[in-house]
Amino acid sequence: MDFKHAIVTGASSQIGRFLLPHIQAAGFEITAISRQEPINKAWLQIDITKNILPVKSKILFHIAPLPLLPQLLANSNIKRVITFSSTSRFSKTSSSDVKEQQIAAQLTEAETQVIELCEQQQIAWTIFRPTLIYGCGIDKNVSFIAEFIRRFGFFPVIGKGIGLRQPVHADDLAIACLQAYNSSITINKTYNLSGGQTLTYRDMVEEIFYSLGKKPRIISIPLFVFKILIHSITWLPKFSHLSTAMVTRINQNLCFDHTAAYNDFGYQPRTFNP
Ligand SMILES: NC(=O)c1ccc[n+]([C@@H]2O[C@H](COP(=O)([O-])OP(=O)(O)OC[C@H]3O[C@@H](n4cnc5c(N)ncnc54)[C@H](OP(=O)(O)O)[C@@H]3O)[C@@H](O)[C@H]2O)c1
Repeated sequence: MDFKHAIVTGASSQIGRFLLPHIQAAGFEITAISRQEPINKAWLQIDITKNILPVKSKILFHIAPLPLLPQLLANSNIKRVITFSSTSRFSKTSSSDVKEQQIAAQLTEAETQVIELCEQQQIAWTIFRPTLIYGCGIDKNVSFIAEFIRRFGFFPVIGKGIGLRQPVHADDLAIACLQAYNSSITINKTYNLSGGQTLTYRDMVEEIFYSLGKKPRIISIPLFVFKILIHSITWLPKFSHLSTAMVTRINQNLCFDHTAAYNDFGYQPRTFNP
Protein backbone atom coordinates (compact mmCIF):
# COMPACT_ATOMS: atom_id res chain seq x y z
CA MET A 1 0.00 0.00 0.00
CA ASP A 2 1.37 3.42 -0.83
CA PHE A 3 1.20 6.35 1.55
CA LYS A 4 -2.03 7.62 -0.01
CA HIS A 5 -4.03 4.66 1.25
CA ALA A 6 -5.98 5.21 4.44
CA ILE A 7 -8.03 3.01 6.74
CA VAL A 8 -11.16 4.50 8.31
CA THR A 9 -12.43 2.57 11.33
CA GLY A 10 -15.93 3.67 12.43
CA ALA A 11 -16.81 4.49 8.81
CA SER A 12 -20.54 4.34 9.54
CA SER A 13 -20.32 6.97 12.30
CA GLN A 14 -21.56 10.53 11.81
CA ILE A 15 -18.03 11.76 11.15
CA GLY A 16 -17.16 8.76 8.97
CA ARG A 17 -20.05 9.41 6.59
CA PHE A 18 -18.68 12.90 5.88
CA LEU A 19 -15.02 11.90 6.00
CA LEU A 20 -15.12 9.20 3.31
CA PRO A 21 -16.07 11.51 0.41
CA HIS A 22 -13.62 14.18 1.61
CA ILE A 23 -10.63 11.86 1.71
CA GLN A 24 -11.61 10.22 -1.57
CA ALA A 25 -11.75 13.68 -3.16
CA ALA A 26 -8.28 14.33 -1.70
CA GLY A 27 -6.94 11.35 -3.67
CA PHE A 28 -6.81 8.65 -0.99
CA GLU A 29 -7.65 5.04 -1.58
CA ILE A 30 -9.75 3.92 1.36
CA THR A 31 -10.49 0.81 3.33
CA ALA A 32 -13.60 1.60 5.39
CA ILE A 33 -14.42 -0.57 8.39
CA SER A 34 -17.46 -1.07 10.61
CA ARG A 35 -19.58 -3.96 11.82
CA GLN A 36 -22.52 -2.99 9.60
CA GLU A 37 -23.21 -4.52 6.20
CA PRO A 38 -20.64 -3.27 3.67
CA ILE A 39 -22.10 -0.74 1.25
CA ASN A 40 -19.38 -1.16 -1.38
CA LYS A 41 -16.21 -3.17 -2.06
CA ALA A 42 -13.97 -0.72 -0.21
CA TRP A 43 -16.03 -1.20 2.95
CA LEU A 44 -15.25 -4.19 5.17
CA GLN A 45 -17.55 -5.68 7.77
CA ILE A 46 -15.18 -6.31 10.65
CA ASP A 47 -15.43 -6.29 14.43
CA ILE A 48 -12.15 -4.60 15.35
CA THR A 49 -12.18 -6.06 18.85
CA LYS A 50 -11.63 -9.49 17.26
CA ASN A 51 -9.38 -8.66 14.33
CA ILE A 52 -6.20 -6.92 13.41
CA LEU A 53 -6.35 -4.33 10.62
CA PRO A 54 -7.00 -6.17 7.35
CA VAL A 55 -4.63 -4.14 5.12
CA LYS A 56 -1.11 -2.78 5.64
CA SER A 57 -1.83 0.92 5.42
CA LYS A 58 0.24 3.62 7.15
CA ILE A 59 -2.61 6.07 7.74
CA LEU A 60 -5.53 5.47 10.09
CA PHE A 61 -8.53 7.68 10.76
CA HIS A 62 -9.96 5.99 13.84
CA ILE A 63 -13.53 7.14 14.53
CA ALA A 64 -14.63 3.98 16.34
CA PRO A 65 -14.49 4.10 20.17
CA LEU A 66 -11.07 5.27 21.40
CA PRO A 67 -10.54 2.39 23.90
CA LEU A 68 -10.41 0.02 20.86
CA LEU A 69 -7.44 1.84 19.34
CA PRO A 70 -4.41 0.70 21.41
CA GLN A 71 -4.89 -2.97 20.52
CA LEU A 72 -5.25 -2.10 16.82
CA LEU A 73 -2.12 0.02 16.78
CA ALA A 74 -0.06 -2.56 18.65
CA ASN A 75 -0.32 -4.99 15.71
CA SER A 76 -0.12 -2.60 12.79
CA ASN A 77 2.12 -0.73 10.36
CA ILE A 78 0.37 2.55 11.01
CA LYS A 79 2.61 5.63 11.02
CA ARG A 80 -0.03 8.38 11.25
CA VAL A 81 -3.25 8.22 13.28
CA ILE A 82 -5.98 10.82 13.71
CA THR A 83 -8.60 9.86 16.25
CA PHE A 84 -11.39 11.04 18.54
CA SER A 85 -11.77 11.25 22.27
CA SER A 86 -14.42 13.59 23.72
CA THR A 87 -14.75 16.68 25.91
CA SER A 88 -16.84 14.31 28.09
CA ARG A 89 -13.52 13.19 29.56
CA PHE A 90 -13.63 16.55 31.39
CA SER A 91 -17.36 17.26 31.74
CA LYS A 92 -18.45 13.81 32.98
CA THR A 93 -15.69 13.34 35.58
CA SER A 94 -17.89 14.76 38.34
CA SER A 95 -21.22 13.44 37.01
CA SER A 96 -23.76 12.15 39.54
CA ASP A 97 -24.07 9.03 37.35
CA VAL A 98 -21.40 6.38 38.04
CA LYS A 99 -21.64 5.07 34.46
CA GLU A 100 -20.80 8.53 33.12
CA GLN A 101 -17.85 8.81 35.51
CA GLN A 102 -16.63 5.49 34.13
CA ILE A 103 -16.92 6.76 30.54
CA ALA A 104 -14.78 9.80 31.45
CA ALA A 105 -12.21 7.56 33.18
CA GLN A 106 -12.10 5.15 30.20
CA LEU A 107 -11.53 7.99 27.75
CA THR A 108 -8.77 9.49 29.90
CA GLU A 109 -7.07 6.10 30.21
CA ALA A 110 -7.47 5.38 26.50
CA GLU A 111 -5.89 8.73 25.58
CA THR A 112 -2.90 7.95 27.81
CA GLN A 113 -2.51 4.45 26.35
CA VAL A 114 -2.74 5.69 22.77
CA ILE A 115 -0.12 8.38 23.37
CA GLU A 116 2.28 5.96 25.12
CA LEU A 117 1.92 3.34 22.41
CA CYS A 118 2.35 5.87 19.61
CA GLU A 119 5.51 7.14 21.24
CA GLN A 120 6.89 3.59 21.59
CA GLN A 121 6.04 2.71 17.96
CA GLN A 122 6.91 6.13 16.52
CA ILE A 123 3.43 6.74 15.24
CA ALA A 124 2.48 10.38 14.66
CA TRP A 125 -0.81 10.97 16.51
CA THR A 126 -3.49 13.63 16.79
CA ILE A 127 -6.40 13.32 19.21
CA PHE A 128 -9.55 15.43 18.76
CA ARG A 129 -12.02 16.02 21.56
CA PRO A 130 -15.32 17.23 20.10
CA THR A 131 -18.27 18.66 22.03
CA LEU A 132 -21.72 17.30 21.15
CA ILE A 133 -21.83 16.11 17.54
CA TYR A 134 -24.79 16.41 15.16
CA GLY A 135 -25.26 16.61 11.42
CA CYS A 136 -26.71 13.53 9.78
CA GLY A 137 -29.70 12.61 11.90
CA ILE A 138 -28.18 9.69 13.80
CA ASP A 139 -26.87 11.44 16.93
CA LYS A 140 -28.35 11.11 20.40
CA ASN A 141 -28.49 14.84 21.12
CA VAL A 142 -29.96 17.09 18.43
CA SER A 143 -31.71 14.23 16.61
CA PHE A 144 -33.07 12.98 19.93
CA ILE A 145 -34.55 16.41 20.70
CA ALA A 146 -36.03 16.58 17.17
CA GLU A 147 -37.52 13.08 17.55
CA PHE A 148 -39.06 14.02 20.92
CA ILE A 149 -40.58 17.21 19.45
CA ARG A 150 -41.99 15.32 16.45
CA ARG A 151 -43.51 12.69 18.70
CA PHE A 152 -44.83 14.81 21.58
CA GLY A 153 -45.06 18.38 20.16
CA PHE A 154 -43.21 19.98 23.08
CA PHE A 155 -39.85 19.73 24.82
CA PRO A 156 -39.33 19.66 28.59
CA VAL A 157 -36.38 21.31 30.38
CA ILE A 158 -35.47 21.55 34.03
CA GLY A 159 -35.38 25.17 35.21
CA LYS A 160 -34.51 27.68 32.51
CA GLY A 161 -32.19 25.57 30.39
CA ILE A 162 -29.45 28.20 30.59
CA GLY A 163 -26.41 25.89 30.32
CA LEU A 164 -24.22 26.86 27.36
CA ARG A 165 -23.66 24.41 24.49
CA GLN A 166 -21.46 24.35 21.38
CA PRO A 167 -22.88 21.70 19.04
CA VAL A 168 -20.38 20.75 16.37
CA HIS A 169 -21.32 19.54 12.88
CA ALA A 170 -19.85 16.13 11.97
CA ASP A 171 -18.75 17.53 8.60
CA ASP A 172 -16.58 20.17 10.34
CA LEU A 173 -14.89 17.33 12.24
CA ALA A 174 -14.39 15.38 9.01
CA ILE A 175 -12.79 18.46 7.44
CA ALA A 176 -10.63 18.85 10.56
CA CYS A 177 -9.28 15.31 10.01
CA LEU A 178 -7.94 16.26 6.59
CA GLN A 179 -6.71 19.65 7.76
CA ALA A 180 -4.80 17.95 10.58
CA TYR A 181 -3.40 15.31 8.21
CA ASN A 182 -2.08 18.11 6.01
CA SER A 183 -0.53 20.14 8.88
CA SER A 184 2.53 18.62 10.53
CA ILE A 185 2.13 21.07 13.43
CA THR A 186 -0.78 18.87 14.61
CA ILE A 187 1.47 15.86 15.16
CA ASN A 188 1.46 14.57 18.73
CA LYS A 189 -1.14 17.05 19.93
CA THR A 190 -4.67 17.02 21.36
CA TYR A 191 -7.31 19.57 20.37
CA ASN A 192 -10.71 20.42 21.84
CA LEU A 193 -13.07 20.90 18.87
CA SER A 194 -16.22 22.80 19.76
CA GLY A 195 -18.85 24.13 17.36
CA GLY A 196 -18.87 27.61 15.82
CA GLN A 197 -21.66 28.99 18.02
CA THR A 198 -22.20 29.08 21.76
CA LEU A 199 -25.87 29.07 22.72
CA THR A 200 -27.97 28.13 25.73
CA TYR A 201 -29.56 24.69 25.82
CA ARG A 202 -32.94 26.42 25.54
CA ASP A 203 -31.87 28.40 22.44
CA MET A 204 -30.53 25.19 20.90
CA VAL A 205 -33.93 23.52 21.45
CA GLU A 206 -35.70 26.57 19.96
CA GLU A 207 -33.52 26.35 16.84
CA ILE A 208 -34.49 22.70 16.49
CA PHE A 209 -38.20 23.63 16.69
CA TYR A 210 -37.69 26.23 13.94
CA SER A 211 -35.80 23.73 11.78
CA LEU A 212 -38.87 21.46 12.00
CA GLY A 213 -41.12 24.36 10.98
CA LYS A 214 -42.68 24.47 14.45
CA LYS A 215 -43.23 27.25 16.99
CA PRO A 216 -41.16 26.46 20.13
CA ARG A 217 -43.13 24.88 22.98
CA ILE A 218 -40.59 24.49 25.79
CA ILE A 219 -41.98 23.57 29.17
CA SER A 220 -40.00 24.05 32.40
CA ILE A 221 -40.74 21.22 34.80
CA PRO A 222 -39.42 20.27 38.25
CA LEU A 223 -36.78 17.55 38.59
CA PHE A 224 -39.11 15.00 40.23
CA VAL A 225 -41.57 15.25 37.29
CA PHE A 226 -38.62 14.83 34.92
CA LYS A 227 -37.54 11.68 36.73
CA ILE A 228 -41.04 10.20 36.29
CA LEU A 229 -41.05 11.21 32.61
CA ILE A 230 -37.66 9.59 32.01
CA HIS A 231 -38.80 6.46 33.78
CA SER A 232 -41.85 6.23 31.57
CA ILE A 233 -40.08 6.62 28.22
CA THR A 234 -36.72 4.89 28.62
CA TRP A 235 -38.30 1.56 27.61
CA LEU A 236 -38.53 3.02 24.08
CA PRO A 237 -35.24 2.18 22.30
CA LYS A 238 -34.86 5.76 20.99
CA PHE A 239 -34.94 7.13 24.55
CA SER A 240 -33.09 4.33 26.36
CA HIS A 241 -29.87 6.36 26.69
CA LEU A 242 -31.55 9.04 28.86
CA SER A 243 -30.47 9.48 32.46
CA THR A 244 -31.19 11.93 35.25
CA ALA A 245 -27.56 13.12 35.16
CA MET A 246 -28.04 14.10 31.50
CA VAL A 247 -31.03 16.27 32.18
CA THR A 248 -29.64 17.93 35.30
CA ARG A 249 -26.70 19.10 33.13
CA ILE A 250 -29.13 21.23 31.11
CA ASN A 251 -28.29 24.24 33.29
CA GLN A 252 -24.50 23.67 33.31
CA ASN A 253 -22.12 25.29 30.84
CA LEU A 254 -20.22 22.79 28.67
CA CYS A 255 -17.88 25.10 26.77
CA PHE A 256 -14.46 24.41 25.31
CA ASP A 257 -12.11 26.73 23.47
CA HIS A 258 -10.97 25.73 19.97
CA THR A 259 -8.49 28.57 19.41
CA ALA A 260 -5.51 26.17 19.30
CA ALA A 261 -7.14 24.27 16.42
CA TYR A 262 -7.88 27.51 14.59
CA ASN A 263 -4.28 28.70 15.03
CA ASP A 264 -2.66 25.39 14.09
CA PHE A 265 -4.76 24.20 11.15
CA GLY A 266 -7.43 26.80 10.40
CA TYR A 267 -10.35 25.01 12.10
CA GLN A 268 -13.43 27.16 11.48
CA PRO A 269 -16.63 25.30 12.45
CA ARG A 270 -20.01 26.52 11.19
CA THR A 271 -22.68 28.10 13.41
CA PHE A 272 -25.44 25.81 14.68
CA ASN A 273 -27.65 24.71 11.79
CA PRO A 274 -29.81 21.72 12.77
N1 LIG B 1 -21.66 11.61 19.63
C1 LIG B 1 -21.12 12.64 20.23
O1 LIG B 1 -21.81 13.66 20.52
C2 LIG B 1 -19.66 12.64 20.56
C3 LIG B 1 -19.15 13.74 21.25
C4 LIG B 1 -17.78 13.78 21.46
C5 LIG B 1 -16.97 12.76 21.02
N2 LIG B 1 -17.49 11.69 20.39
C6 LIG B 1 -16.56 10.66 19.90
O2 LIG B 1 -16.42 10.83 18.49
C7 LIG B 1 -16.30 9.55 17.86
C8 LIG B 1 -17.41 9.38 16.86
O3 LIG B 1 -18.64 9.58 17.51
P1 LIG B 1 -20.02 9.21 16.83
O4 LIG B 1 -21.10 9.50 17.82
O5 LIG B 1 -20.08 9.80 15.47
O6 LIG B 1 -19.77 7.67 16.68
P2 LIG B 1 -20.75 6.46 16.80
O7 LIG B 1 -22.03 6.78 16.11
O8 LIG B 1 -20.73 5.98 18.20
O9 LIG B 1 -19.96 5.46 15.85
C9 LIG B 1 -18.93 4.66 16.27
C10 LIG B 1 -18.41 3.95 15.03
O10 LIG B 1 -17.53 2.92 15.44
C11 LIG B 1 -17.96 1.70 14.84
N3 LIG B 1 -17.64 0.63 15.77
C12 LIG B 1 -17.97 0.57 17.09
N4 LIG B 1 -17.48 -0.59 17.62
C13 LIG B 1 -16.87 -1.25 16.61
C14 LIG B 1 -16.21 -2.51 16.52
N5 LIG B 1 -16.09 -3.31 17.59
N6 LIG B 1 -15.69 -2.90 15.34
C15 LIG B 1 -15.84 -2.11 14.24
N7 LIG B 1 -16.45 -0.90 14.27
C16 LIG B 1 -16.97 -0.48 15.43
C17 LIG B 1 -19.45 1.87 14.60
O11 LIG B 1 -19.91 1.13 13.52
P3 LIG B 1 -20.73 -0.25 13.67
O12 LIG B 1 -21.71 -0.06 14.79
O13 LIG B 1 -21.33 -0.43 12.32
O14 LIG B 1 -19.68 -1.23 13.96
C18 LIG B 1 -19.48 3.35 14.17
O15 LIG B 1 -19.13 3.47 12.83
C19 LIG B 1 -16.34 8.50 18.98
O16 LIG B 1 -15.02 8.20 19.36
C20 LIG B 1 -17.04 9.24 20.12
O17 LIG B 1 -16.64 8.77 21.39
C21 LIG B 1 -18.83 11.59 20.14
